[in-house]
Amino acid sequence: KRPAGAPDKSLARKVSKVGVVGAGLMAGQLALLFARRLDVPVVLTDLDQERLDKGVAYVHGEVDKLLGKGRINQDKANHLKALVTGSLSKDAFSDADFVIEAVFEKMEIKQQVFAEVEAVVSPEAILATNTSSLSVTEMASKLKHPERVVGFHFFNPVAVLPLLEIVRGEKTDDAALATAFATAKKLKKTAVLCKDAPAFVVNRLLTLFMGEVLGSISEGTEPEVADRSVAPLGLPMSPLMLLQLVGPAVALHVSETLHEAFPERFAVSPQLGKVVEAGKNEIFGPDLSIDPEVKELLSGG
Ligand code: 3HC
Repeated sequence: KRPAGAPDKSLARKVSKVGVVGAGLMAGQLALLFARRLDVPVVLTDLDQERLDKGVAYVHGEVDKLLGKGRINQDKANHLKALVTGSLSKDAFSDADFVIEAVFEKMEIKQQVFAEVEAVVSPEAILATNTSSLSVTEMASKLKHPERVVGFHFFNPVAVLPLLEIVRGEKTDDAALATAFATAKKLKKTAVLCKDAPAFVVNRLLTLFMGEVLGSISEGTEPEVADRSVAPLGLPMSPLMLLQLVGPAVALHVSETLHEAFPERFAVSPQLGKVVEAGKNEIFGPDLSIDPEVKELLSGG
């Protein structure tokens, strides 16, 4: 059955090579998923060799884990490792027909990345963004071919979570959208079409939920208590674990975008701001108790 809002699949273009901009954790997860499910070469790019090496090493490490679990055999592992390569130059994307960016969540940076990619790819190549909250229309607005831009928003961990938010920008054409849906199907994701509105759908819910948990902590509830209080909801992960998984800086950024768009409906937690300012990426220590410094920052009303 065709997903709601998806154009006819006959409009979809073939994807024979994928580019991933950024070699951070999200980008590495995307590279592996594309290589594994589409069985095509995937090139990662990032700003410096160290980050690039780390990104490729992450992919190789995940391939080894799949091998260790018996999910793939040695030949497949070697094949997947060979499919994913790194390059410092976006020229490596010249024959890519689907390029996805997963760089820092800042509009100007993403626009710049898309402009650089557009300069080397064919006019028909799809440019996808894994943005969690920014406007796809605005991101495409400076391009010669904005009709090929789509939102393609995954959830962490990418290998496990089935949902994919596909976003149609104002100028996105049916061929780009059909390619996005066809690609999602090959990736074995459940794709839903979302309006190009701040933080789409899932991150709005997440931000409200997280905001209330952080609010109760700042009002004096012990962080451990607030973190456990959601158990009756049957969620697979506690809110503070989720905050660590998403990354405090990303969570803060999404809440800022939503607050800007809907000041009455979304607040920005000053306590979360302090955690980010202090450079704390981990909420929990190695013993899985809440980091004392984070605890103090979150509780500091
Ligand atoms: N990368 C790859 N695989 C992972 C992983 C990771 N980071 N974390 C867990 N997995 C895999 C495990 O290897 C395991 O695979 P297997 O069955 O093949 O062995 C499988 O997931 C289940 O893991 P576990 O048995 O260790 O643990 P759980 O059953 O508790 O599941 C979880 C872990 C899937 C992470 C689960 O806790 C969960 O779904 N948590 C909620 C995550 C969530 O809500 N994410 C959305 C965040 S919002 C977002 O990303 C959007 C962004 O824009 C902000």
